[in-house]
Parts: sequence; C-alpha cells; structure tokens
Amino acid sequence: MEQESMWNRRVRPRVRTRRWKVAATVGVAATAAVTVALAVAAPAQAATTLRSLAEAKSRYFGTALTVGDVTNGTESNLAATQFDMVTPGNEMKWDTTEPSRGNFNFGPGDQIVSFAQAHTMRVRGHNLVWHSQTGAWVFQGSEGKPADRETLLARMRDHIRTVVGRYKGKIHGWDVVNEAIDEDGSLRKSPWQVGIGDDYVAKAFEFAREADPDAELYYNDFNLEKPAKRAGVIKLVQDLQARKLRIDGIGNQAHWRLDTPAIDEIDKALVELHATGLKVMFTELDINLLPNTPRGADPSAANPYANGLPDEVQQQLARRYADVFRVFLKHRDAVTRVTFWGLSDADSWLNRGRMNYPLLWDRQRRPKPAFDAVVQALRTPG
Ligand code: G3I
Repeated sequence: MEQESMWNRRVRPRVRTRRWKVAATVGVAATAAVTVALAVAAPAQAATTLRSLAEAKSRYFGTALTVGDVTNGTESNLAATQFDMVTPGNEMKWDTTEPSRGNFNFGPGDQIVSFAQAHTMRVRGHNLVWHSQTGAWVFQGSEGKPADRETLLARMRDHIRTVVGRYKGKIHGWDVVNEAIDEDGSLRKSPWQVGIGDDYVAKAFEFAREADPDAELYYNDFNLEKPAKRAGVIKLVQDLQARKLRIDGIGNQAHWRLDTPAIDEIDKALVELHATGLKVMFTELDINLLPNTPRGADPSAANPYANGLPDEVQQQLARRYADVFRVFLKHRDAVTRVTFWGLSDADSWLNRGRMNYPLLWDRQRRPKPAFDAVVQALRTPG
C-alpha cells in the first residue's frame, strides 16, 4: 500500500537551514540516473522535494535518465522536480557515442544535456572507458588479431578527446574508468588491460584531463563494501595520485539489497574510501528486492512479487533507505552526492523480466514510503 506522501502535501519552506558539508554528484545513475546533492535538512517543514532539500544546502541529488525518460512528460516532470543532477543511463557510453570507428553519435547524449540545462541540473558523464557496452571493433586489430597497445591508446585518446570535447563546459564530471577492478582486488583482465597493460587506467585519466581541464574526474565501481575489492580500488586511485593525475572522486555504485551489505560495512567502506582524500559519491543507488535465483528457477521463487509488493516488504525497504541515508548523513563531510539508478520502479534495470521495486517511486510514479523515509532522514538534525 502506498501511504500519503510528503510529495503530495503542501508545506511552507523554512528560512533557517543547516548546511551539509557535502559534495554531491548524483549518487548518480544508470537509466539516466538522477543525482541529488546531499543536504541536511532543517527541522520540520523545509521542503517537499529531494531537490529543494538539497538546494537549501547548496547540494545536489541525482538520478539516471534515459532519452525515453526525458521525452516522457510524466517522467521528465518528476525528474526535473525532484533532482538537480542527471547521469545518462546509456547515452554517453562508447557503443552509443562511437558505434563504429570515427563515427560519432551525439544525438542521445545531447538530448540528456539539453534536458538538464533546461532544468538547471548538473550532468555526470557516464562513462568513457569500460569493458562493457563498447563495440567489438574497438578491440580488433588487423587480420583478425586483437588491437595492439598503440592502436588501443590512439582509439582511447581520440574517443575521449572527441566525447569530452563535445561536452566541454556542460558536464560537471566524468566517470573516466568504470569497473576496472575484479572481486579479488586485482585489475580486471578486460580487453583494455590485456591490450594496453596496467597503465590503461592512468592513460584514460591523462586523456580526460587533456580534453577538459575543468571537468571533475572519477573512478566508478560496485561491491566496494567487500574488503578485497575495496583494497584494489584504493590501490588503483593511490597509483593515480602518485602519478599526479587529476582524480576528484570515487563513485560507489551502491547496487544494494535489503540485508546486504550490512550498515556497518557501508560505513566502514565510506570511511576507508574517503581516507584517500577523495570525495565519495553514491552513483547508482537502488535496493534489489528479488532473490538471486538460478536461470530457469520456479517463477514463484524467482518472481515473488509479480502481483504487488506486500506492505511488510514495502516498510522494510523504507527502513533500509532510512538506515542508508543515516550513514550518508553521519559522514556528510565525505559524501558529496547521491544518485539513484533510475527514477521509478518501472524504469529500473533490475526488473529484467521480473517485477522489482528498488526505487523511491512506484510504477505509477507515486512516491513510496521509501521516499518519505529519505525525506525524513534528510530533515533530521544531527
Ligand atoms: O539498445 C538496444 C536496443 O537496440 C535493443 O533492441 C534492446 C534489446 O534488448 O537492447 C538495447 O540495449 C540495452 C541497453 O541497456 C539500452 O537499453 C541492452 O540490451 C541492455 O543490456 C542495457 O542495459 C544497461 C546495462 O547498464 C548494460 O550493462 C542498462 O540499461 C543500464 O542501466 C546499465 O547501467 C549499468 C551502469 O552503466 C554501470 N553500473 C551497472 C549498471 C547496471 O547494470
């Protein structure tokens, strides 16, 4: 059951607010993730939207958005009202921006940027170098052989220079490299690593800096609450720092579940990542409510909420979001932005043929108890 939300209530803004010392990027996200600048709320009736709560503190809240979202009236109204930061869900990935060598396609990315500009939202560019959603041509050399180091570096530099150059002055910061670390903390044996060597990450940051010296540059990954993986990420960013390359933040994707990772693991990861001296941004936040069932599993086990979410689980989700935001607020000096990976449950990548309920708005774009829980957490002093 959806309860009446603050979203639907009229409340008078208060004048007095408390500022969060936070740098926010969209805890930025995937289907056109929206980012919210984290702000700590003044007591009681400060504002009714995430955006206004954030802006009262000069902060940002983000969401991932796709072209489908920004061309849909209901979605775009919700996004513009609630968020002041946007992450393109797919529109700036390599397979969209350069589907074949030297042929650049900026139509979808431009649509997201225009939408953001029209609604005074910041944009987090996602992403420049990744092993996924990158055309096979990128890694192919002549005569069916894999491309060699020099070829790959030239393609990477040209891509980064063209894409970052296109949006110079319009993108607040870029996810320069995405998901380079494996679960054991080693550098993933991606086609980038295999073809170029371990310094491909440093090269990507170098090229991004050349292309737009004013843009913030980030490293983005998931499962950072797992100690081995986190150690690998910390080692990676420390290597970039030792090379005197620009890096401004670590994006923690935050694709979480109801019970995992535990709150103290989230807390510990945040503290350790921030100890690098970098901003920590939650870039793709969502809470997966579905079991991790094997392919072909009994539908009643694999898709337990096909006919709706029981109220008890709805309340668990709200409590989970409240707990998570309490940690973010506890470390408000470290957490600069929070971005959700998608706007409503209808838009989430986590559905994949099932019925999932990971976000703050339901399939009719009505605020869920989880939305009220986040607003309440943001309004709680201390
Ligand atoms: O564009 C094709 C379309 O032509 C085709 O008809 C359709 C048929 O399935 O597929 C379309 O591509 C899909 C694409 O999203 C655009 O909608 C892909 O199948 C689908 O796999 C792809 O999923 C994206 C996923 O990244 C791929 O890794 C999700 O939308 C996107 O939200 C998700 O985002 C990632 C972040 O970038 C990085 N972190 C994890 C996060 C979730 O996977």
